[in-house]
Amino acid sequence: MRLILVSNRLPISTTKENNKLCFQSSVGGLVTGLSDYINQKVKAEGKKNYLWVGWPGSTIEENKQKKAKEVLLKNFQSVPVFIPESQMDKFYYGFCNRTIWPLFHYYPMLTSFEEKYWKSYQQINEVFMNTLEEIIKPDDVIWIHDYHLMLLPQLIRKKFPTVKIGFFLHIPFPVYEVFRLLPKDWREKILNDLLGADLVGFHTYEYTQYFLHCVQRLLGYEHDMGSLIINNRLVKIDTFPMGINFEKFNNAIQNQEIASEVETLKKSLNGMKSILSIDRLDYTKGILHRLRGYEKFLEEHPEWHEKVVFLLIIVPSRTGIDHYLQIKKQVDEFVGKINGKFGKIGWNPISYQYKSFDFQKLVSFYIIADVGLVTPLRDGMNLVAKEFVASKADKKGVLILSEMAGAIKELCEAVAVNPNNITEIANSLHYSLSMDEEEQKNRNEIMQKRLSNCNVIYWAEDFLQRLQQVHDEKNKLKFNFFTSNDKIKLQTDFKTAKNKLVMLDYDGTLSPLVKHPSLAKPSTDTLTLLKELSLLETMDLVITSGRDKATLNKWFSLPKINLIAEHGIWIKYAGKEWEIQKETTNDWRPQIINILQTYTNRVPGSFIEEKEYSLCWHYRNCYQEVAKIKSKELADDLISFVANKDLQVVQGSKIVEIRNTSVNKGTAALSFLSKKDYDFILAAGDDYTDEDLFAALPQTCYSIKVGMSQSKAKFNIDNCGSLIEILKSLLLL
Ligand code: UDP
Ligand code: G6P
Repeated sequence: MRLILVSNRLPISTTKENNKLCFQSSVGGLVTGLSDYINQKVKAEGKKNYLWVGWPGSTIEENKQKKAKEVLLKNFQSVPVFIPESQMDKFYYGFCNRTIWPLFHYYPMLTSFEEKYWKSYQQINEVFMNTLEEIIKPDDVIWIHDYHLMLLPQLIRKKFPTVKIGFFLHIPFPVYEVFRLLPKDWREKILNDLLGADLVGFHTYEYTQYFLHCVQRLLGYEHDMGSLIINNRLVKIDTFPMGINFEKFNNAIQNQEIASEVETLKKSLNGMKSILSIDRLDYTKGILHRLRGYEKFLEEHPEWHEKVVFLLIIVPSRTGIDHYLQIKKQVDEFVGKINGKFGKIGWNPISYQYKSFDFQKLVSFYIIADVGLVTPLRDGMNLVAKEFVASKADKKGVLILSEMAGAIKELCEAVAVNPNNITEIANSLHYSLSMDEEEQKNRNEIMQKRLSNCNVIYWAEDFLQRLQQVHDEKNKLKFNFFTSNDKIKLQTDFKTAKNKLVMLDYDGTLSPLVKHPSLAKPSTDTLTLLKELSLLETMDLVITSGRDKATLNKWFSLPKINLIAEHGIWIKYAGKEWEIQKETTNDWRPQIINILQTYTNRVPGSFIEEKEYSLCWHYRNCYQEVAKIKSKELADDLISFVANKDLQVVQGSKIVEIRNTSVNKGTAALSFLSKKDYDFILAAGDDYTDEDLFAALPQTCYSIKVGMSQSKAKFNIDNCGSLIEILKSLLLL
């Protein structure tokens, strides 16, 4: 199985210096985490059975692209996706980092909603697709990473319907109220296209729930424990907190060069304690709040002056965006202010470096620091926090961690702070610098155990195994899809049959469900189809509906059509009058209507449908989370009310119905079966009331459930359109 990793940024950035191509490691949690996994995978398998597809980190002129492509493939297993400078402005600096990044990190005020950015985002996702199209083989596993490529799963799915596709989001997924700030067509496309994957993963349980909530509210797809069925496909949404290469950090001190680097750094501290923070320069990282917290700490704790130094490491990032440049200026000024205000000869309270470091240097900082101060205002995960804890081979040191970082879910023994609370940061610094060694060791031991168990290999393999499982489960779905072979057999049986019975539900079966029942009038095409079917020789066509007689009369006044109304209470044989199947009383109605009205008042968007012998409370147009709870309360109220009556309460698809107990679509079907010996029966329906029909029919019939959920029907098809196709094909025989 070959693994194809796809991310916006390749692990190697290609630049041009003195007209020569240079290659160096990229920075960021995505790249470091995945690279560690890939390196260990290659070691374990003894071969490089993977490719990494992505942007090479800068714009490469056309005459250098061939060379860059060769080197990247040969030396780094990487396939570059070249993106012109003009598009990078709109795609990377635009939609990715001026729209999605701020919005998903809860900065709506910094979010830009430019149509040209959105257009470019769609185009660049297609550019990635074009590169992938030349690479993908049917057995490959495609693993797409992060917010730059959220449209790619569906693009791949369209071209390669059966290939395994996983998607992982490395940043937070926001709550519905924030996500829905995106224009309707953008947000729906993003969700729909992500769902082209077999498995969509997030760092935390909350992000997973927020995503599922958005899918339910914006696309209307319900999930069952994170599983969704979409167009016959199983899609799983789940949580996979990303880990680090624990051993690499924990064993680092055993390396001679790192050990001597550590000694040099310790000497330079001259016996002072140190506080460390390392981040890309990003407004989400809370650097200014942190500096304010440090300033307050120095104001309130003069006893720490000349005894502590803050090692502030900031890695340049996204320098093409104004807001990032502004923050840089503010940080520079703030550092100057603090050093000026508190500094003395021989002591600068802050040692500030604005550059990126290699592993050796980085881990040496982690090892020597007494306190790791990691206080992002919002962060999908934050690997720096995990790396700091892992590097403490002697288990000494204290991590202060923001409540807003995904990592806090696993690093519960850290000193948790609200990064907006300057006083809390200041207090936590004093608390951490004063913490006794035993407590430090106790806390770190628990966290290290967790980091060691749930490392980056565990994360990646858990994700990839789950992806394989979803693929296998899909094949074992308990649905029996109506295949092309089934269709051929049905047509043959239909052609040779002497007496044919076709029973069709209407709403949700011949016509998709709409906002209000009165809007579901059959189209001319549907009526023509039904008319032609009903005129076929030796054919009995029945519409088996829950609708009232008046509506069916109005819609289906065709001489050869049989009608069943109100789920079987009424039958109208073709060309005859309506016949009631069972005399029932209606004295219960006023009280039930009162109860239903109370719930209609409580749940905006719900409404009552009144039929002659039944009542139905619809909640399909409501806020589903509330409506579902209310529908259960309603059903409970009704059940106690109907206890001694010939009535039943049915909770169906976004409805609660009160109807007669002993008459249903099944009993109505038996009336037809008792009149003739049919050698071909086709029945189709979409909801719980059709289950009575499916149960009553003989084994030999073709019963079809429209929709992907468990049913007594023999077959499932995905939607009304597919059923119409089957019916149309019968006319051509
Ligand atoms: N990092 C690096 N060089 C540096 C600073 C940081 O390679 O000079 C790495 C660091 O080891 C970590 C990653 O960059 O793995 C940062 O990941 P994190 O999740 O903390 O934040 P992100 O940058 O992804 O928002
Ligand atoms: C975060 C994102 C990554 C991104 C990294 C560095 O970790 O989740 O997708 O690669 O930041 O940002 P950059 O814009 O330089 O790729």
